[in-house]
Amino acid sequence: MLKEPRIPLFEMSMCLSNAMDLVSPSVVDHHKRVAYIASSIAAEMGLSEEKQEDLIMAGLLHDIGAISLKDRLDALNFELESSAHAELGYRLIRTFPTFSNIASLIRFHHLLWDYGNGSSFKEEYPIPMICHILHLADRIAVLINRKDEILRQAKGIIEQIRGGSGEKFMPVLVDSFISLAQKEYFWFDAVSSSISQILTRRTRLATIELDLEGLINLSRLFGKIIDFRSRFTATHSSGVAAAAEALARLAGLTKLECDMMKIAGYLHDLGKLAVPAEILEKPGKLTWKENNIIKNHTYYTYRIIETVRNLDVINMWASFHHERLDGKGYPFHHKGKDIPLGSRIMAVADVFTAVTEDRPYRPGMSKGNALHTLQQMAKNSALDPGLVSILISNYDGINAIRRAAQAAESKEYKEFGVSR
Ligand SMILES: [Fe+2]
Ligand SMILES: [Fe+2]
Ligand SMILES: [Fe+2]
Repeated sequence: MLKEPRIPLFEMSMCLSNAMDLVSPSVVDHHKRVAYIASSIAAEMGLSEEKQEDLIMAGLLHDIGAISLKDRLDALNFELESSAHAELGYRLIRTFPTFSNIASLIRFHHLLWDYGNGSSFKEEYPIPMICHILHLADRIAVLINRKDEILRQAKGIIEQIRGGSGEKFMPVLVDSFISLAQKEYFWFDAVSSSISQILTRRTRLATIELDLEGLINLSRLFGKIIDFRSRFTATHSSGVAAAAEALARLAGLTKLECDMMKIAGYLHDLGKLAVPAEILEKPGKLTWKENNIIKNHTYYTYRIIETVRNLDVINMWASFHHERLDGKGYPFHHKGKDIPLGSRIMAVADVFTAVTEDRPYRPGMSKGNALHTLQQMAKNSALDPGLVSILISNYDGINAIRRAAQAAESKEYKEFGVSR
């Protein structure tokens, strides 16, 4: 009997932060480093533990709106040109109520101090000081060159930050940073390969657990970030989540299992964050090399989700969606009975959604063609024939559910100001 999973919020946030780092090796640990530096400055100033923890969480997720590799790399430029990603990040993060206290931090994480003008937004409402701490921490982090010895760089970084005092950064924060920067451990921690553990020990958040509803909501946010990567598959995760849940219900799974299927659906392509958008968006046939890169995605989904406690069942359901009953799938080559029912449902829901959803370069398949494709795959031992026949007998109902979920998602994106 499955138990309702209780998931540590902090591990889930760390998992999201790690997933975002997949977009480019040059950003690895950027989010964690900003979380570390920001909370250290707050501690140096004697701010409350609550504020320090908000800064950790906001640091872990601050560039959530920088979806493309270009956005991500732009955000790492000291002289940043556009901060549109901060606004988008704010809108995304607001969809998950538990993070409402860090949404405005993310929104203003590139706001300049501007000799005091940055203390309010459009002179209308005050900007909390911790937004400016996050901004400062982010700029310190981008000046660190991980390839070079850290103490050798400290002086230069301090000088550059001091040079921006008043214009870019709030002077009192710069002073606190400079006193903190005299201590070697600060720099060693900032580039430490154990930065995740350092952050975990620093926060009480590590004990907050998400219930099922919280997990569904946070997974939906993960799905949005995955889908935003490419306009070709802009609502794919929400379609797969809805189709998988519907199929699970028809296959007789319990309410709890159906909810878990939905979560797994939102997460199933998490590893696609590691696949370059040009490959995701290539309309034609992929080369052998590109195919190898694509094969990474379920592997990364698995390895990233496995870092979160109590998610093992959902992880299997999410990550085995390209395994085939005949053992010729990837990347684990599980076979027959070794592939859990939830993973088989996910595989069917994924193919079904992929072929029926409209993409910019082609409309979705007609019912006849979709049925034929699914039947062929069942016949060739790729998909579970029993599940395919349940889908076929309930095709119109499941298709309507999938369509409605994707339409709702696309409407939400338009409201975000992202054209898809
Ligand atoms: Fe940023
Ligand atoms: Fe996939
Ligand atoms: Fe997929």
